[in-house]
Amino acid sequence: METITITNICCIGAGYVGGPTMAMIAAKCPHIQVNVVDMNEKRIAAWNSDELPVYEPGLMELVEGCRGKNLHFSTDVREAIRNANMIFVAVGTPTKTYGAGAGRAADLCYVESAARMIAEESTGPKIVVEKSTIPVRTAEAMRTILEANSPSGKFQVLSNPEFLAEGTAVEDMVAPDRILIGGEQTPEGLQAIEKLVSVYANWVPREKILTTNTWSSELSKLVANAFLAQRISSINSISALCEKTGANIHEVSRAIGHDSRIGPKFLKSSVGFGGSCFQKDILNLVYLCEHFGLPEVAAYWEQVIIMNDWQKSRFARKIVQNLFNTVSGKKIGILGFAFKKDTNDTRESAAIYVCRDLLLENAKLAIYDPKVEREQIIADLKYVGISDSLLLNNLEIVDDPYAALHQAHALAVMTEWDEFAHLDYEKIQESMFKPAFAFDGRNILPSEKLRSLGYSLFTIGS
Ligand SMILES: NC(=O)c1ccc[n+]([C@@H]2O[C@H](COP(=O)([O-])OP(=O)(O)OC[C@H]3O[C@@H](n4cnc5c(N)ncnc54)[C@H](O)[C@@H]3O)[C@@H](O)[C@H]2O)c1
Repeated sequence: METITITNICCIGAGYVGGPTMAMIAAKCPHIQVNVVDMNEKRIAAWNSDELPVYEPGLMELVEGCRGKNLHFSTDVREAIRNANMIFVAVGTPTKTYGAGAGRAADLCYVESAARMIAEESTGPKIVVEKSTIPVRTAEAMRTILEANSPSGKFQVLSNPEFLAEGTAVEDMVAPDRILIGGEQTPEGLQAIEKLVSVYANWVPREKILTTNTWSSELSKLVANAFLAQRISSINSISALCEKTGANIHEVSRAIGHDSRIGPKFLKSSVGFGGSCFQKDILNLVYLCEHFGLPEVAAYWEQVIIMNDWQKSRFARKIVQNLFNTVSGKKIGILGFAFKKDTNDTRESAAIYVCRDLLLENAKLAIYDPKVEREQIIADLKYVGISDSLLLNNLEIVDDPYAALHQAHALAVMTEWDEFAHLDYEKIQESMFKPAFAFDGRNILPSEKLRSLGYSLFTIGS
């Protein structure tokens, strides 16, 4: 293993993680050739175009700076594997939808197929880096697959979970809180860890690069997401109590956030968390706890998801109740569909579930999001069971927020896009049915102004 000098990196999976992280490595390590490969031809074509498949502030500039020089996007997975001495695996690990562990365990079929391809194409030693979020002990399984299928190849499998947050991926990668690298605690394992450390050390201070054994690294990623999601569910649970008691969630957040042991971050209440990771990773943690005979621990973490689901359905119910217990035939303008601002990702977005509930109540929805494609919105709503006839008759997707709210009975903010705080709410109010209802699922609207304009405004937690 000590003979490997890292000159050529391949990354299998050109998604929200693989594309941006490899662009950053290419930008910071001009001496390394970086090949990002994916079997999805459309995605690769988009990475090679001016319309990247992932929207992130600053990403286009980052990619343009090294694409065609030391950063390449291709569908030739096998060739990229053959040429690489370090291979990142950044394929999806969605929640299983079938068989044992369905609805909880991570589906490792993409990880396994990547491992088998690596084994088939490898003749010499390679370092394989798990970038995907996977259950504890997956590295061990990967290593078994690699060695059983490639007798001539020698492999070290490292765990290097990704902590970037969508919407701020580029700034998170430029100055990460930490880089975590787990590996076997053997001389060969420690050498492999050092090789990966040396890649990140091109721009990350050494003291921020943490090294651990493989299992601690794998588990830490699940635990980090579970703790973050737990904070959101905790503050959201208190938002419901605030609404009943006259306390105000902003004031409570500020008051508790000043405690240095608690800290001010991640204490904003909202319609609920979304994104591809939090729910999936907690379910994965829950599954692991059940598997290892720890039902109390599993139940403890599962409650984070139950609270989040409740917050989403509570928001939809609040809209129906306030619109005099019926939204049938009423137009509701939906502002935002992405799971958070500054991304085009809609996976597990709260908007999907709130829109589903409203469509099932026969509301007429007009949805506006500045970055999400219309096909994506339709696919998401179909996935949660909305029929073709409801989509045809009750759904409008528009490219102008004012059109979404024209002659609407209510507006609902689902994503905290900055532009929603600065719309002309006077003009909007004039074009809406009265009373004009506003439901702010992100607490970003200028509330005093809206109230003075005569809106019936509902926020979360006050
Ligand atoms: N999205 C995030 O913010 C985030 C953050 C941290 C960690 N993660 C983790 O990173 C992993 C990837 O997440 P993502 O959001 O980038 O997923 P994604 O679905 O956007 O991308 C995964 C890509 O892998 C490709 N792929 C799957 N199997 C392949 C194979 N055998 N050969 C070639 N390509 C293959 C798919 O076509 C897809 O384009 C997941 O495990 C996720 O949990 C995601």
